Amino acid sequence: MKTIKQASRELPYLGFGLGLRVDHYEALLDEPGQVEWLEIVSENYLVPGGRPLRWLERFRERFPLVMHGVSMSIGGTDPLDLDYLDQLAALARHVQPAWISDHLCWTGVAGVNLHDLMPLPYTEEALAHVVDRVRRVQDRLGRRILLENVSSYISFAQSQLTEWEFLAAVAERADSLILLDINNVHVSAHNHGFSALDYLDGLPPARVQQFHLAGHEQGGALLIDTHDAPVVDAVWDLYLEAVRRFGRVSTMIERDDHIPPLAELRAELDHARMLADALLQEAA
Ligand SMILES: [Fe+2]
Repeated sequence: MKTIKQASRELPYLGFGLGLRVDHYEALLDEPGQVEWLEIVSENYLVPGGRPLRWLERFRERFPLVMHGVSMSIGGTDPLDLDYLDQLAALARHVQPAWISDHLCWTGVAGVNLHDLMPLPYTEEALAHVVDRVRRVQDRLGRRILLENVSSYISFAQSQLTEWEFLAAVAERADSLILLDINNVHVSAHNHGFSALDYLDGLPPARVQQFHLAGHEQGGALLIDTHDAPVVDAVWDLYLEAVRRFGRVSTMIERDDHIPPLAELRAELDHARMLADALLQEAA
């Protein structure tokens, strides 16, 4: 039996949480079950006031919150949107999140927003570019950020590094943290033909601060990251491999479409907790 080494992390361990969705507002306050924390989509609350912020106030009283954004475009070549960053900082002063995250991607060019999370070429040039921007974002926000691996369907012929080498190098050089989306690793491993286990082995454990779990769809030969279905068995298996490598990491389930009743997501979350607890107890 192999003991699982728990990486030491500066940020708190929050347990098992869910992405906060409007469909579940009432139910989460009435019957939170064992939902221990919530991840909010930052952009939904970058408003001057009104109902969204009043709801947020109620959740803030009941749950630890983290902020997850989609607009930073950390890999983009347009200048960083300082106004957006200042809005994020203002929301963070209000919400007091345990941390703030976004994606390792770019979302537009020349002022045109593609409304999608586009993968980067994994080159030294792109690495230096992203590291510089992460440092500047962290200085502006006054805290370290987490960057999430996105799922992808294309890769760049220019890439010199693997995706996990790039993700790890950004975190090490910019002194940032990693939000590891287990489903995205599985989807991209399938689509690009790399080993999901090599990916996990290539990440620095102390930098991995949060896991995402989600469902996906089969679209012909590709897997499509849709967040509209339950977590599949292969992703549960990969989750266990991640727990084996990284120990207890704050874990949550993301569902963005075909949102089921809260009880269904709570049951899925309980399954994640049961799997992780069993593995960690067995290894203790
Ligand atoms: Fe995710």
